[in-house]
Amino acid sequence: MAQPTKSKLVRAAARVRKSAVAPYSKFLVGAALLTRGGEVITGANVESASYGLTCCAERVALFKALTEGKQDFVAVAVVARAKNGAMPCGACRQLLAEYAPQARVFVADSRALQRVREFNMAELLPGAFVKLT
Ligand code: THU
Repeated sequence: MAQPTKSKLVRAAARVRKSAVAPYSKFLVGAALLTRGGEVITGANVESASYGLTCCAERVALFKALTEGKQDFVAVAVVARAKNGAMPCGACRQLLAEYAPQARVFVADSRALQRVREFNMAELLPGAFVKLT
């Protein structure tokens, strides 16, 4: 992926991260999805007093995108304030494997946005369960 596209997506994730609603963990995460058509859909984590109901940034972005009719994702960026960034959790990996299997995954620390680690969904969730048939 072209460098400007990648850094734009990472910066979009860093921007939306500031909208996270994370009063319990105070761990703010931003995610930005890129469609093949060049659209960017963002999301941030939202926590609940009933902790288990928390939704990660990746899933918020994905649910927003899917329910706005967006599909065919080529990349997703995840930004958090953590050394080397935060890797998507297992639940998010499952959903990304189902709905964004071709996506490159960019992970970055909000304090070092130019240092981006890259993955494929196939390496983040090998042998993913994707169909009931
Ligand atoms: N979180 C995300 O939003 N994405 C990740 O990739 C890792 C974890 C959120 C969930 C929770 O609100 C907070 O980070 C602490 O786990």
